[in-house]
Amino acid sequence: MSANAVAENDTSVDQSSNPIVRFLQGAKLLGQTLYVEGLTLVEHAEQAGVEIPTNCTSGTCGACMVTLLFGEVPLPVELPPGLDDYLVEEGARLGCIGCPSGDVDIDIRPPL
Ligand code: FES
Repeated sequence: MSANAVAENDTSVDQSSNPIVRFLQGAKLLGQTLYVEGLTLVEHAEQAGVEIPTNCTSGTCGACMVTLLFGEVPLPVELPPGLDDYLVEEGARLGCIGCPSGDVDIDIRPPL
């Protein structure tokens, strides 16, 4: 088989074009998983074998706060108690309620 050969009869989705959710700690990649619509960052982390600490799981305590490095994790119109405008400007997102909208890079540490 030549180096340019492409798998024939492969009906699976080309994973190279599927969005990826990556979890880092600084420059170190801890794990990554395919993006699944509707899953939270904590649920994606579990799939990637990465632990994000949680407590309330409802956006109140901030225990699951991570930093968005790349991509989008949309915020609710009204910020939950665990976030404020300053933290959001620094990239903070709450893993228990934040759902990525495609490719994202997440530092599992809070921004501050
Ligand atoms: S676990 Fe409390 S805000 Fe996410």
